[in-house]
Amino acid sequence: MKRYTDLSDTAESFSKRKDRRKPKGRRSVNQLQTKDGFDDAGLQGLFEQGLVTELLGELKSGKEATVYLARGPRGLVAAKLYRDAAVRSFKNDHLYRDGRFIGDARVKKAIDQRSKTGVSAQQALWIMHEYGQLWALYNAGVPVPKPLVGPGADDCAKAGRVVLMDFIGDDEGAAPRLADVRLSPAEAEDAFNQSVALLTQLLKLGKVHGDFSAYNLLWWHGEVIIIDVPQMVEVEENRSAGELLERDVVSLCRSVKGIRADPREVLERVLRDARRSL
Ligand SMILES: Nc1ncnc2c1ncn2[C@@H]1O[C@H](COP(=O)(O)OP(=O)(O)O)[C@@H](O)[C@H]1O
Ligand SMILES: [Mg+2]
Repeated sequence: MKRYTDLSDTAESFSKRKDRRKPKGRRSVNQLQTKDGFDDAGLQGLFEQGLVTELLGELKSGKEATVYLARGPRGLVAAKLYRDAAVRSFKNDHLYRDGRFIGDARVKKAIDQRSKTGVSAQQALWIMHEYGQLWALYNAGVPVPKPLVGPGADDCAKAGRVVLMDFIGDDEGAAPRLADVRLSPAEAEDAFNQSVALLTQLLKLGKVHGDFSAYNLLWWHGEVIIIDVPQMVEVEENRSAGELLERDVVSLCRSVKGIRADPREVLERVLRDARRSL
């Protein structure tokens, strides 16, 4: 299994490495960790609360967030650190935001106008939403990494730009994404069927993931685990939920290797099975 990028690296060699493709805003572990804690308000807060004691390495860096492997009091944890609001893209954000409640008209206006304040407010809401959804799914028994902050809104707000959750993996390495793992035909079919069952389970809870594909599913001990939920929408609130569900089904069918499934049939199956148990 692939080892973490820099668990075996010394902090020094990590810092010397020049990566030209390094996305703007990404900082290496030893730039973030200082003698007294962390050079990031969110991480520092979690450190002071005793939730994170050490950053061990970087698991993955994407456009909007970098996921770090960290140590917590009870073992390994994953810390998803979002970049500064200014460098975030909020791709097609309006599609997911539709129907989400924003209490104050001034905040709503700032967000709609994408002012600087609006963008940071929007990011804070986005991250709160990720915590909220993780808790809802975890409590409903859906396989997701357990969130380690909250469920109280105050605690989640204090975590700043960091979503802290259980690390899926072990000392040897992180769980691979379904998109990256080599599966036998029987395993691929099992993984695909589990994924379709998860889409159904989400729909029964009135939710659509909104970015459901083998890139946001981990494969661990023969089990599919859902990650990356900030864009999840509620069917009752969001007028694009149907469209997003269709897209999720198509993305899933396209992204699981070794599977040939007709998205229309899969969608029908999901809708039928969700309805039957409603
Ligand atoms: N709890 C976790 N345990 C192990 N690996 C994780 C965890 N959360 C995220 N990852 C890894 O980090 C990657 C990026 O996380 P994700 O939440 O999908 O963020 P992004 O918005 O960058 O896609 C995932 O593809 C996965 O490989
Ligand atoms: Mg992702």
